[in-house]
Amino acid sequence: MVSPSSSPGAVALGTLALAASLLAGGASAQDADPGAIVNALVAAGGNQPKVRASGAKGVCVKGSFTPSAEAPGLSKAPHFTRTVPVTARFSMGGSNAKISDKAKPVTRGFAMRLADPSGDMVFVVISAPVFSTKTPQQLLEFATVRAPGPDGKPDADKIKVFAAANPETTRQAAWLNARPVPASFAGVDYWGVHAYTLTDAKGAATVAKLKWVAQAGQLGLTDDELKGKPDSFYADELKERLSKEPAKFDLVAILGEPNDPVNDPTVAWPEENRKSVKLGTIAIAALEPDATCDAATFDPVADLPEGVAGPATDPMFAVRSPAYAVSLSRRAN
Ligand code: HEM
Repeated sequence: MVSPSSSPGAVALGTLALAASLLAGGASAQDADPGAIVNALVAAGGNQPKVRASGAKGVCVKGSFTPSAEAPGLSKAPHFTRTVPVTARFSMGGSNAKISDKAKPVTRGFAMRLADPSGDMVFVVISAPVFSTKTPQQLLEFATVRAPGPDGKPDADKIKVFAAANPETTRQAAWLNARPVPASFAGVDYWGVHAYTLTDAKGAATVAKLKWVAQAGQLGLTDDELKGKPDSFYADELKERLSKEPAKFDLVAILGEPNDPVNDPTVAWPEENRKSVKLGTIAIAALEPDATCDAATFDPVADLPEGVAGPATDPMFAVRSPAYAVSLSRRAN
């Protein structure tokens, strides 16, 4: 929301800021209150106490990141110069901590903190190349129409009307519905749906989308296999997998081209015939107690080093930081 201003000077500045944000092609980061969004996200999952507003059900893990020889050529971040420790969390999308691991269309999430004495590098990414909404206000409405009614179910008509008026919000579900339910958190690719800018030591900038490519490949479950699974199997599957070998993901930068949108995470960039550069490999080695991941939030906006920047004109990017902080304070108190 644009805050009300008390002085004429402030009004003029506020109007200018609003005009600038409209010209930039999007609503401003303040176009919906982060606390209101968190409330709506938690309500959509049934208002469970002490849950994350998204990714409520998940598994905390640890491992390491080893950069490729090419990575420092794109970004001067120290994390791209040596192997660094990683704390991470895989999760199911949404605020329902009791959601079935078989749920579809639901994103699987991968939040990761690459630690370095100079500061952390945090990415929070999902198993789809697009996010569901392009502005915070749209996310507020997207979540609000999904609040369960007295019968415990959302109003299907409201969702239909919203989808018809906001067709870009249906792309993520369509993408997920066209693919099988992942058999493992380690058997699916993840995307950082925003456009990042990587800057090297000489100041040269490269705009790229980041993708975490599962070395295990895309491990999907058939409908019959799905029927035979319990509602919670990802944590045990991961434990069993990691007892044999680390689960690895290649971090790949897919380089942008002139007309690629950088302010709208509901639009995927084409990946075919694109230049891409492998930045390194994450090796997830073992499960980690939940408390390690629950103590803080993975803030993908505040915790970025020099050499890696999020998109200044994507309103969905900026609003993540205050929303994650609100969610943390509610679940921690
Ligand atoms: C745009 C791309 C986005 C992606 C890929 C994404 C993905 C995720 C994932 C994977 C988690 C789980 C983190 C964990 O395991 O701790 C998460 C948490 C969360 N997300 Fe997002 N999210 C996005 C945007 C947003 C936006 C725009 C908002 C709100 C304005 C939001 C609100 C939240 C909140 C409040 C949490 C819980 C944070 C916590 O309690 O620690 N997300 N998100």
